[in-house]
Amino acid sequence: MKATEILMAEHEVIQRVIGSLEAAAIMLENGQYVRPGFFTDAADFIKGFADGCHHVKEEQVLFRTMEQYGVPGQGGPVGVMLFEHEQGRQFTRGIRAAAQKLAAGDVSAREAVVQNTRGYTALLRQHILKENNVLFPMADQVIPVSEHDRVFESFEHIEHEETGEGVHEKYLALAEALEKEARG
Ligand SMILES: [Fe+2]
Repeated sequence: MKATEILMAEHEVIQRVIGSLEAAAIMLENGQYVRPGFFTDAADFIKGFADGCHHVKEEQVLFRTMEQYGVPGQGGPVGVMLFEHEQGRQFTRGIRAAAQKLAAGDVSAREAVVQNTRGYTALLRQHILKENNVLFPMADQVIPVSEHDRVFESFEHIEHEETGEGVHEKYLALAEALEKEARG
């Protein structure tokens, strides 16, 4: 499996959580009850999987390898991706903080939960489209086949050494639980 195929498969998992977050935001906006923990659980998924498992592979391996083969690491499309990863982290912190207030009984935090959730989902939807359609084809073009094994091994290293054994699977299960809960 090519590095970009692994990343695209992870995008699909992230997109499922984005869909669940969108559904939950609509419910909350319409005054329906959504467990505040749904949003903190989703923030855990984003931090642990989207940032922990996924963005680490992009930032520490894929983008750096692209840089070695002439794609600028700052500015240009890679710079935009890095900037958007950071924006995503800010929205995630916003979701968590607002959801914690909501859990503590502050109903005025509902608006901030919805705003940050919508900010995150809109950002990530277009971000994933750009990576799948522009960045990854560019990576496939510039990274020679002889480098594929090394990139793949670096991904494995991140999963086993940095993210930790079994963590990936734990977040896949969480994505599924969130999806079920959002469907009602
Ligand atoms: Fe990505």
